[in-house]
Amino acid sequence: MPTETTTPASPITTIADIGKHEGQSVILRGWLYNLRASGKLLFPIFRDGTGTIQGIVPKAAVPEHVFETLKSLTLESSLIVTGRVRADARAPSGFELDVDDVTITQRIPDETPYPIQLKEAGVDFLMENRHLWIRTPRQSSILRVRATIMRAAAEYFDTNGFIRTDPPILTPNACEGTSELFEMDYFGDDKAYLTQSGQLYIEATAMALGRVYSFGPTFRAEKSKTRRHLTEFWMIEPEVTYMDLDGLMSLAESFLTHIVTRVLETHRADLKVIGKDITKLEAIIAPSPTYTTDAPSIDPSSRPEAEGRSGETPVFAPTHPSAGQAEGHPTANRFPRLTYDEAHAMLLDAHAKGLIDTVHQYGDDFGSPDETYISSQFTKPVMVHRYPAAVKAFYMQPDPLDPTKALCVDVLAPEGYGEIIGGSQRVDDYDLLKSRIESHNLPMAAFQWYLDLRKYGSVPHSGFGMGIERCVAWICGLEHVRETIPFARTLNRIYP
Ligand code: 4AD
Ligand code: MG
Repeated sequence: MPTETTTPASPITTIADIGKHEGQSVILRGWLYNLRASGKLLFPIFRDGTGTIQGIVPKAAVPEHVFETLKSLTLESSLIVTGRVRADARAPSGFELDVDDVTITQRIPDETPYPIQLKEAGVDFLMENRHLWIRTPRQSSILRVRATIMRAAAEYFDTNGFIRTDPPILTPNACEGTSELFEMDYFGDDKAYLTQSGQLYIEATAMALGRVYSFGPTFRAEKSKTRRHLTEFWMIEPEVTYMDLDGLMSLAESFLTHIVTRVLETHRADLKVIGKDITKLEAIIAPSPTYTTDAPSIDPSSRPEAEGRSGETPVFAPTHPSAGQAEGHPTANRFPRLTYDEAHAMLLDAHAKGLIDTVHQYGDDFGSPDETYISSQFTKPVMVHRYPAAVKAFYMQPDPLDPTKALCVDVLAPEGYGEIIGGSQRVDDYDLLKSRIESHNLPMAAFQWYLDLRKYGSVPHSGFGMGIERCVAWICGLEHVRETIPFARTLNRIYP
């Protein structure tokens, strides 16, 4: 029982919550991030996983052992610090801590200093020490934003009538091309593969539940060393019965808008630490000024030529009949929609004007520089739809107006971050799907169950997949996907 003589102990709090304790004494538990000394004053910076805060330690104001302990403390030593919270407009977090006491949890010996010192280090060294690198404020901020993106992505589907159904990770067949499969022995006789996408399985659960999604790790034995490729990444995939390609594009638009909205609600401080220009994200969720219900799908106001080079006729008027339809999704926040043909024409035009080096060959998929150019023409994510079927997956429904094209969409993130979403309407006819499996030289036996879905009550259906890491790279403005996941797996790295 507390009596009148007991002094209440200072509350334990976190740096993120410190503003609730202005003027009070609090206890923080964390690490020494940095230390600056100026004569009889010490300025330690503490971190606790939720943020950083600067402490002030005047020699005259604290017991001698506190001053001496902190003065010689090695960086990243763990500690418990007691101090009074003071508002300071100049401090990045708005607060500073007048230190009263410190208890060391573990002091890093002087002979074995923390490997990552505050001076610049090369990326290879940092990746080799990824288990420690994640402690630096910028990396911690990225991981916090990643967590919110994952939560917001799942929340979008959870609150819109989707049922989460988890597909297997060990599978007997390929989904996205046989050359990129991680293969393993499955008890001698059978081969198993790490899943490349949950899609085929959630097509089955969609036939059971209507609207479903999956969210889990996926694997690609891709021998590409680009800044956009990981061998293990997280994918969230919705699949919806009776949804066509236009409905799917509207779904992707509304889904991405939700994610960006959530990130902006809670992570302005983190985005600042990361160095992301927030206005670029605000533009994503801003209503399209030219929108009307039957407006063209390309927002001319978001194109540089519409703003700057006046008098020029826009080269890419939307021509496809799908333009402007957003049935069932009355959103004022339309993302531009371009057909493959329109995007191709845009690239030829850019080449003619000397804006890009290589000529895009009609029929080819877009390379990274092509995607970068296309996306840089818009402030919002761009949806490129109806690619040549020949460059896309076996399961994509042909366009009835031009069967050489697939009813598919790639969503390209702004600022040159490339494809973040890939999706399509699926082949729903048994015979067509069977012939596609044959012509792609896929093992028919492994796809029997998948064909069953077209045999027993087949319906039109569509879905897409978004790679979380590509989305984090775009939202945080990161050069390379290796910083978007706690421990990246790439062609040449599986340590730590
Ligand atoms: O375009 P992809 O290959 O599509 C599919 O896997 C479909 N089965 C999804 C579906 O329709 N349900 O991959 C989807 C997304 C890409 O847009 C990209 O964001 C991400 O997954 N992705 C990768 N992310 C990191 N590293 C890689 N190697 C990736 N490959 C794809
Ligand atoms: Mg793709």
